[in-house]
Amino acid sequence: MHSLNVNLGNRTYPIHIGAGLLPQANLLLAALPILRAAIVTNEIVAPLYLRALAEPLRAAGVKLTEIVLPDGEQHKNWQTLNRIFDTLLAQHCDRATTIIALGGGVIGDLAGFAAATYQRGVPFIQVPTTLLAQVDSSVGGKTGINHPQGKNMLGAFWQPKLVLADTDTLRTLPERELSAGLAEVIKYGLIRDLPFLEWLEANMDLLRARDGAALAYAIQRSCANKAEVVAEDEHETAKEGGRALLNLGHTFGHAIETGMGYGAWLHGEAVAAGTLMAAELSRRLGWLTDADVLRVRHLLARAGLPVKGAALDASRYLELMSHDKKVVAGRLRLVLLKRLGEAVTWAEASPAEIQAAIEACCHD
Ligand code: NAD
Ligand code: GLY
Repeated sequence: MHSLNVNLGNRTYPIHIGAGLLPQANLLLAALPILRAAIVTNEIVAPLYLRALAEPLRAAGVKLTEIVLPDGEQHKNWQTLNRIFDTLLAQHCDRATTIIALGGGVIGDLAGFAAATYQRGVPFIQVPTTLLAQVDSSVGGKTGINHPQGKNMLGAFWQPKLVLADTDTLRTLPERELSAGLAEVIKYGLIRDLPFLEWLEANMDLLRARDGAALAYAIQRSCANKAEVVAEDEHETAKEGGRALLNLGHTFGHAIETGMGYGAWLHGEAVAAGTLMAAELSRRLGWLTDADVLRVRHLLARAGLPVKGAALDASRYLELMSHDKKVVAGRLRLVLLKRLGEAVTWAEASPAEIQAAIEACCHD
């Protein structure tokens, strides 16, 4: 098992990464204030992993409530959130009850938002079971749900007490979901870790073949990068750079997710197409070379990710992007690449420049 910390003063918490962690109740017990918890999961993950997590906890004396939600991004909404609250209240869960998210980023975001708001906040644990959740969404405390007008528009910062990433769970992950997770892994290389980007170029085939050592290394390195960024700018308030850099490709990608209907494109797929748009715009600003953009495109393609934008009008992209949380005083702050391995926030791109970069990425 490899462990690292997200350093946030008295809210510092560990991330444990390794094989066979799910049944190790002692790791979870260390983070429970009392022997009472509610596991939030979904209909796909429950038959695979709920028993492995719940039985050792019950054997250790933990009183458990199980909440099994429908699967999918289209359910990351108020109705599903309310189902969590309904069960917590019906089961008399009190303020010391820990909510445990068992699943991918959708479950983590929903359960985390429930934990942030139930009785004004209860303890929270993340047990991520997708690559995307293990490298990104389970770490850093962003929680929330979608609104029909925009992705992740309602939410709260609520840090977990513990992240337990069992790499064995990745064995059952569909191929397309593994690729979606690789989009966020590649992101860390592009925004702040050129040696990791080079490692990914050398090891992409091993990652897609689910080599255990390669996956564990990619998860550790991704979490280490994310933990550093979050420790420096937890609430994304830095005027320049900071945590916002973790959103490379996301402003374009969120437009694809919202515009195409939640669930049509996987989050990681939309981020991949958005990353290419950000790279193309960076090239047009004179920061990246043609060869750099080709290098990004090639790596995303080798990861099994889309390298062409969704068929939306460029004007529709701009309209959807205008709802982005990084719009400050009417100006869209994009995350762009000064060079491979170094990202910046940039509010100076004109709508025409943005539109041209989008259009260039939506044609063959
Ligand atoms: P997801 O949660 O929808 O999971 C993908 C699919 O895999 C689902 O069908 C799920 O049921 C299934 N699944 C989960 N674990 C499995 C396993 N081990 N074996 C087989 N199937 C499994 O999607 P995701 O990619 O994990 O997360 C995407 C979500 O995360 C988006 O809503 C995105 O906005 C959010 N996100 C949040 C943050 C954050 O910081 N909070 C960061 C990035 C993404
Ligand atoms: N996934 C972006 C962030 O956590 O800030």
